[in-house]
Amino acid sequence: MGSQAPKAPNGRYAQITGWGMYVPEKVLTNTDLARAVDTTDEWIVSRTGIKERHIVAGERETTATLAARAAQEALLVADVAPGDLDLVIVATVTPEYAFPSTASLVQDALGADKAGAFDLSAGCSGFMYALSLAADVVRAGGAEHVLVIGAETLSRIVDWTDRNTCVLFGDGAGAVVVSVCEARCGVLASVLGSDGSGGDVLILPAGGSHAPASHETVSSGGHFAKMNGREVFRFATTIIPKATEQVAQKAGWQIADLALVIPHQANTRIIESAVKRLNMPLEKFFINLDRYGNTSSASIPIALCEAIREQRIKGGDKLVLVGFGAGLTWAAVAIEWGIPMPVKPQRPERRWFGRLRFAFAGVRSIFRRVERHVYNWIMGPVGKDDWRGKLRKRTDALRERLRGK
Ligand code: ACO
Repeated sequence: MGSQAPKAPNGRYAQITGWGMYVPEKVLTNTDLARAVDTTDEWIVSRTGIKERHIVAGERETTATLAARAAQEALLVADVAPGDLDLVIVATVTPEYAFPSTASLVQDALGADKAGAFDLSAGCSGFMYALSLAADVVRAGGAEHVLVIGAETLSRIVDWTDRNTCVLFGDGAGAVVVSVCEARCGVLASVLGSDGSGGDVLILPAGGSHAPASHETVSSGGHFAKMNGREVFRFATTIIPKATEQVAQKAGWQIADLALVIPHQANTRIIESAVKRLNMPLEKFFINLDRYGNTSSASIPIALCEAIREQRIKGGDKLVLVGFGAGLTWAAVAIEWGIPMPVKPQRPERRWFGRLRFAFAGVRSIFRRVERHVYNWIMGPVGKDDWRGKLRKRTDALRERLRGK
């Protein structure tokens, strides 16, 4: 499936107006890995193209904190206040919890009080699914601004003794703001696909309802990602060129029209194979996996941010973003870049004000958590018919009014 921007304009299109990325400071090089498992820098570079990756350090860095940092930057670039967001979508295969959603935690951290929030799971294609969905919601009139984030802490689900997988992945987050626009530009078409018969090719076997956490699942390593690398490789080399051609056709473009393709950053050899099949010059493919490894849902938005930073994207450029991953899933999005580039630097005081707003949202979140605990402790359980129960009935309504709900 997928979607297509209407030919007869209804006055609503959806374009990317803000972008941001964040990666943890800690860098793990191939040489570092070679000290822990039986591998070499030469093997990893020649088979994958990866030289180093960033990984979280300590409990304070999580998928939600990386996501929030990337989202803050995207909001600052778009100059959109968190309170103006209608929806927050976090694409991830490493959510903070099964529930609540990572998106809800990010929504709270940002102070996006009017936004709905949910997580989206589609393997490494997750960000592309979320971007396509966000554009559809905006074009249909359901939202003015949607925050789309791809964020991962894959280092938390990787078996650091398994050389087949641990050399491939990294942590990070990328975010975009998708906003309504009147000119026919932005996300013009998308292609989404899935083949669940390949579910076991790339899987986190335990911890879900199929195999809930137990001593056995932990001792057998069921909480680590398992992958049939060769199968994924075969699938990826076919699906990237196919999905790119399909989405370009849907947008009414020729492959030669494309200014840049931003593929999922998993393996240089996969990208080179797609380049050959599409008969395109390698320079038209953006590659940065040498520095980040495969960051799953975060890889394409991080690459997009770096492509913008390196001035590889101009206003009016035709772009294809294309991903594949666990599921098996794939997704491609055709974008006509609507914003004149480079964007004018923002006034410093505006950025300061934006940052102040995020700091305030953080303080307010802590206050709300503490207040909720204290209030429940003073008022006692809901539904009691004693004086505390009666008082609670009255104050509950007042409290909700004060919170603006
Ligand atoms: N260091 C040294 N040797 C290694 C390593 C390593 N890190 N890893 C595997 N090997 C060995 C294997 O054990 C094997 O040895 P054997 O022949 O004695 O059994 C040999 O290297 C070759 O293994 P292959 O699997 O054939 O290696 P290949 O060239 O296919 O490369 C790789 C493996 C890099 C995993 C490749 O298949 C690949 O990139 N696949 C796609 C992975 C991918 O994109 N995954 C992410 C999907 S997106 C998502 O949703 C998360």
